[in-house]
Amino acid sequence: MKIAVLPGDGIGTEIVAQATKVLETLRSDGMKIEMEYAPIGGAGYEAAGDPLPDATLKLAKEADAVLLGAVGDWKYDKLERNLRPERGLLRIRKELNLFANLRPALLYPELAGASTLKPEVVSGLDIMIVRELTGDVYFGQPRGISTLPNGEREGVNTMRYSESEIRRIGHVAFRIAMKRNKKVCSVDKANVLETTELWRQVMIETAREYPEIELSHMYVDNAAMQLVRAPKQFDVMVTGNIFGDILSDEASMLTGSIGMLPSASLDQNNKGMYEPSHGSAPDIAGKDVANPLATILSVAMMLRYTFNDETGAIRIENAVKKALAQGYRTADIYTDGCNKVGCNAMGDAVVAAL
Ligand code: IPM
Ligand code: MG
Repeated sequence: MKIAVLPGDGIGTEIVAQATKVLETLRSDGMKIEMEYAPIGGAGYEAAGDPLPDATLKLAKEADAVLLGAVGDWKYDKLERNLRPERGLLRIRKELNLFANLRPALLYPELAGASTLKPEVVSGLDIMIVRELTGDVYFGQPRGISTLPNGEREGVNTMRYSESEIRRIGHVAFRIAMKRNKKVCSVDKANVLETTELWRQVMIETAREYPEIELSHMYVDNAAMQLVRAPKQFDVMVTGNIFGDILSDEASMLTGSIGMLPSASLDQNNKGMYEPSHGSAPDIAGKDVANPLATILSVAMMLRYTFNDETGAIRIENAVKKALAQGYRTADIYTDGCNKVGCNAMGDAVVAAL
C-alpha cells in the first residue's frame, strides 16, 4: 500500500502525525505500508511557490491512497487567489477526479453529552453524507471578480452540473445505502435553482436501477433545519458540492465536535484521498490541543474503501472507541470527569488500544 502523506498547514502536521503512528502500528503487525511525504497548501507555497507543487501531484497520482491533514492559514489570505492554500486542495481533488466525498456523521455513545444537542436527539445517530466534490459552483465557469461599465465591481460564480456528474454521484449514494438502511435523501434547491431541478430529475431516474432504495428529496434549507430538529430520520444524504460542504459541517456538531468527522474522497476506481472534514485551525496549531480522531478515523476509511480491508478498518474504529471508553478526551469533546489529553497523548491512547 503506497500512501502519499500530505500534512499541509496549521494543525495538519500534528493530527497527521497521530494517524501515521496508527499506520506504523499496523505496519509493525505485518501490513505492507509505504509512506512518502509531500507539501500541500501553504506548505506547498513555501516549498515550491505553488499550493499544489508538481512533485506533490505526481506523488499523489502514483500512490494508491492519499492521507491529507488540512490546508490554510490566515497569513496566506493576501496572496493572489491561485496561490492560496485552498486552491491546492481543490486542484488535487479535481486532478485526481475525486468526485465522491463520503462524510459519515456517527455519534459515539460516550460523546452524547459533548454534543450541543440533547442526548436523546443525537444518541444512535449514524448518517452518511455523500457530497459531490468536483463540480458545482466550486468549479463552474465563468467565475471571477470584474468591473462593470458603471465602475462598480461584480463577483460571479456559476452553479452547474451535467447529467453524468449527477448520475455518477447518485450511483455512489445508492450503492452505499444498499449496504445500510436503504434510505437516500437527496438534498437540492429545486424550487429555485434549475441546476438542482435537473439534479432531482436525474436522481429519480438513477434510483430506478435500485428498486429497494427509498429515495426522498428535501430542499437544502429544510435539510439544515431537520438536521438539528430530528437528525436520526436520515440514513444517506446525497447532495452537491456547496450544500454538502455546509451540511457536513452542521452534521459534525451532532457528533460532539467537527474533530470527530473523517472523510473519504473517491474516484471511479475507489482510489481515494482521506482527510478530516475540518480545517487547519491555525489558532490552535502547534499547541498540542487538536483532536486527531477525525484523521485517525480517516485512515480506517482508507482501509475500508481503497484497500478493501474491513477488518483493519473496524480494528482502528474499535481502538478509537476504546480510547473514548477509557475516558480520554481532547478539549473539543471534553466533559466533566473525563481525562483531558492533548493531540499526541490521544494518538498514543489509540495506538495503545490498537
Ligand atoms: C472542506 C473545506 C474545503 C471545501 C475548503 C478548505 C476549500 O471546507 O473540505 O469542507 O470547501 O471543500
Ligand atoms: Mg467545509
